[in-house]
Amino acid sequence: MPGRLIVSKPRAWPPHWIMDFLQEIERLKLAGLAELRGAPDLAALEQARVNYLGSHGKFTALMKQLGTLPKEQKPSAGKAVNAAKIALEAALAERRGELELQTSLPKEATDFTLPGRRRQLGKLHPLTQVAEDIIRSFRKIGFAVADGPEVEDDYHCFDALNTPADHPARDTQDTFYLRNSEFQITNTESGPQPSTINPQFLLRTHTSSVQIRVMEKQSPPVRIIVPGRVYRRDNADATHNPTFQQVEGLYVDRDVTVGDLKGTVEFVFKELMGPETRIRFRPHYFSYTEPSFEIDFSSSLTRKMGKEWLEIAGCGMVHPQVFENVGYDPEVWTGWAFGFGIERIAMIRYGINDIRLFYENDVRFLRQF
Ligand code: DAH
Repeated sequence: MPGRLIVSKPRAWPPHWIMDFLQEIERLKLAGLAELRGAPDLAALEQARVNYLGSHGKFTALMKQLGTLPKEQKPSAGKAVNAAKIALEAALAERRGELELQTSLPKEATDFTLPGRRRQLGKLHPLTQVAEDIIRSFRKIGFAVADGPEVEDDYHCFDALNTPADHPARDTQDTFYLRNSEFQITNTESGPQPSTINPQFLLRTHTSSVQIRVMEKQSPPVRIIVPGRVYRRDNADATHNPTFQQVEGLYVDRDVTVGDLKGTVEFVFKELMGPETRIRFRPHYFSYTEPSFEIDFSSSLTRKMGKEWLEIAGCGMVHPQVFENVGYDPEVWTGWAFGFGIERIAMIRYGINDIRLFYENDVRFLRQF
């Protein structure tokens, strides 16, 4: 009756009981192995571990009794206990592995006859699509894409563009200024210009600042467009958003005329809005161009919106002072520049009546383009 040998209090074992002790080890080992291997789930397995190998477990109790065996019997008994313990721990690890694998497998059988899951294809944002179309058209006639920082200094955004200190665009009501201590412009590769030693940083209000950055770095001729984000302190409504996107264009060479400007704009707008698109120039004022114009266009799209002509862009011949500011000789070089909003084009093109839709990222809206 090996069972009666297990008592809670350790006591001395008479020498001839070693056989009983060894049998008890074997019995407990077999019982433990059966319980561990038969554990139906991880909770039951943990319970089996506690029962046998925990600090108050049956096996642990047996190990405590080792000390009470006569000295000469301890080595063989100890060996047997250790071997049994190793066997139990191996069974525990093996069963744990099996059960963990089981829980990670699908609960139901896989039905290979079900139809496949359709993979949703992503799309470019409508504004990105329109910007890419604009870039593609300008590339056809030899324009390269240029880029500049969205956090700009007031020199590049205003002063260098001949925009005087009292111009409303510079007003804090209209512009997001940054606290200078919070920002250090990092991409002035050539170091700060004399005029930017004491810069005031702001989120650029237009892409025209990139005209200056390009001309500072590159000698004429220049033929670039600049798609990019701009920022203004406008309250969002159907036609305004505090951030929107523009495309700037700049062409500098010898003997450039308004005719070149008109021809270029007409080519690009016909590409964008269809071959029967017409454009017209109206006199306007910008401080960095002289003369300056606003561009209207007319197409079936404008008529759909109930208007013959829609204003679409600002432009003009680059002001001689702007050339002076970047070190181009205005007696030698001539050029034109323009700027327009990408949202406006996209809205007309797709018949969208609220600019905010572009920025809400509602996939039900975005999926349509
Ligand atoms: N920067 C102007 C704006 O944000 C647009 C513009 C007008 C750009 C005339 C130009 C230009 O390059 O020559 O409204």
